[in-house]
Amino acid sequence: MTDTLRTAPSTELLTDDPTWWRQAAVYQIYPRSFADSNGDGIGDLPGITAKVPYLTQLGVDAVWLSPFYPSALADGGYDVDDYRDVDPKIGTLAQFDEMIDALHAAGIRVIADLVPNHSSDRHVWFQEALAAPAGSPARARYIFRDGLGDGGELPPSDWTSIFGGPAWTRVADGQWYLHSFASEQPDWDWDNPEVREDFLTTLRFWSDRGVDGFRVDVAHGLAKSLPEVLPSKAELDALPKADGDHPLWDRDEVHEIYASWREVFDEYDPPRIAVAEAWVEPSRRARYASASGLGQAFNFDLLEADFDATQFHDIITYNLDAAEASGSSTTWVFSNHDVVRHATRYGLPALDGRDVKQGAEWLLSGGTSPEVDVETGLRRARAASLFMLGLPGSAYVYQGEELGLPEVADIPADERQDPSFFRNPGVDIGRDGCRVPLPWACEGSSFGFGPGDAHLPQPSWFGEYSVEAEDADPASTLALYRAALAARRDLQTDETLEWLPVDGRDDVLHFVRPGGWHVVCVFGTEPVDLAALGLGGAASGGAVSDGAEVLVASGPLSDAGQLPGETAAWLRA
Ligand code: NOJ
Repeated sequence: MTDTLRTAPSTELLTDDPTWWRQAAVYQIYPRSFADSNGDGIGDLPGITAKVPYLTQLGVDAVWLSPFYPSALADGGYDVDDYRDVDPKIGTLAQFDEMIDALHAAGIRVIADLVPNHSSDRHVWFQEALAAPAGSPARARYIFRDGLGDGGELPPSDWTSIFGGPAWTRVADGQWYLHSFASEQPDWDWDNPEVREDFLTTLRFWSDRGVDGFRVDVAHGLAKSLPEVLPSKAELDALPKADGDHPLWDRDEVHEIYASWREVFDEYDPPRIAVAEAWVEPSRRARYASASGLGQAFNFDLLEADFDATQFHDIITYNLDAAEASGSSTTWVFSNHDVVRHATRYGLPALDGRDVKQGAEWLLSGGTSPEVDVETGLRRARAASLFMLGLPGSAYVYQGEELGLPEVADIPADERQDPSFFRNPGVDIGRDGCRVPLPWACEGSSFGFGPGDAHLPQPSWFGEYSVEAEDADPASTLALYRAALAARRDLQTDETLEWLPVDGRDDVLHFVRPGGWHVVCVFGTEPVDLAALGLGGAASGGAVSDGAEVLVASGPLSDAGQLPGETAAWLRA
């Protein structure tokens, strides 16, 4: 591992404002599927550097990079071999420095993905643990246990991993280790001071290199407390999850770890930021988001909701209130590398309270049964995204959603990569469909992703959604995101909104932000008369007539000043 310490260059466009993250638009890059500079089929860091002008034109404040560390890719890079290096398949540390310099020079911050719940089984400490005897200090960095049964041939408990299949794997001398995810991802033992210290070193390593913040993977999983006699899966599932005392998830002690990280973040100016990926009860998010902890936490509530006015209203109200109470700002997300893209999700039947994973199950048919309504999905996704970008809080945008990219539902089984597909046969289609390399060009090798084939197969229709196809089209989804992200900058100083009543329509939401910014979204299929909302005179094209000026709309308004069904608009009145 090369360990040349460097200081980040200061650039004019980056201010030292410590609150830069509160209202930021953050673009998630899944590096291996973003842009491939050398034709090996895998996106890389020089590929990202080459696309900085694209990101600048898009108008994002920061990028979050999914893991770029050395990895056998048993879980798309969330199986980390070395936390303080770059995967040679996608670049070098020197190329990381070039990338970060180029992004900073463009005024774009960089958030790295930190994976502290588990390493990969190729990590040097796990290899040491395998070579060392039971009970040794090397084993004590992970969670090893003897098995049950006369010869210890049964796992220590019947727990299943999040990806399906057993949560314990046996090693050569007969002991078992715990992995909450794939067997290639052994869980760290966070009671071990060496583990704690090593992560502080990692935080400083990337912060010294200029990284502005961290997205913390499985932030609610680090602290564990396993009793001598382990509960069964049924007993575990029956335990309350929100009292801070569950053996595996969301334990109160996890916040001691983040308090020690906060001390490191505050060594920097501006302080490094962090956002927790914590799938916890909404009421338990505040501690992850506290100023003495990570500072911000993902709220996945909209991602788990249907395209429905009541659900959106209640989720937004709850989260804005909660963020205010915790002193943090909230986060909005519709898509990421773990879920069916929202342009497709909204073209499937309503979840009606079912888990968002239901989308992945429905797609087992390849999108034919139930059939995906592609047009409706895109129309709703555009409306929802525009509505969301008008909200106070940070907006997380997943690569490709700015193109309206649908999920690729029909990847052949033998070309899939996701362990959740292989560990859940016939139950889960897995997450490869949202990780297909981006189309940059209408045609050509891998639709402009790179000079060779892409590491996941792209469908023939991909070119229709390419950057090239959408770049000059004022009606494209790319144009919509560009316009919204540019206009949004005027909203970023204030963190409030006021809901306005919409008489007689419970499928329409309307709020106003200071400065007379109105955001309206029709969730149903019937148009709404903007004059009835006090926004008379509005028309497509942005012209001010006798009333409101349309700043951005997710679809054309009628000449009569009506906002069509499943459409959103920003207006100034
Ligand atoms: C959450 C990440 O987003 C997901 O992609 C990964 O598989 C798991 N954590 C395990 O690291």
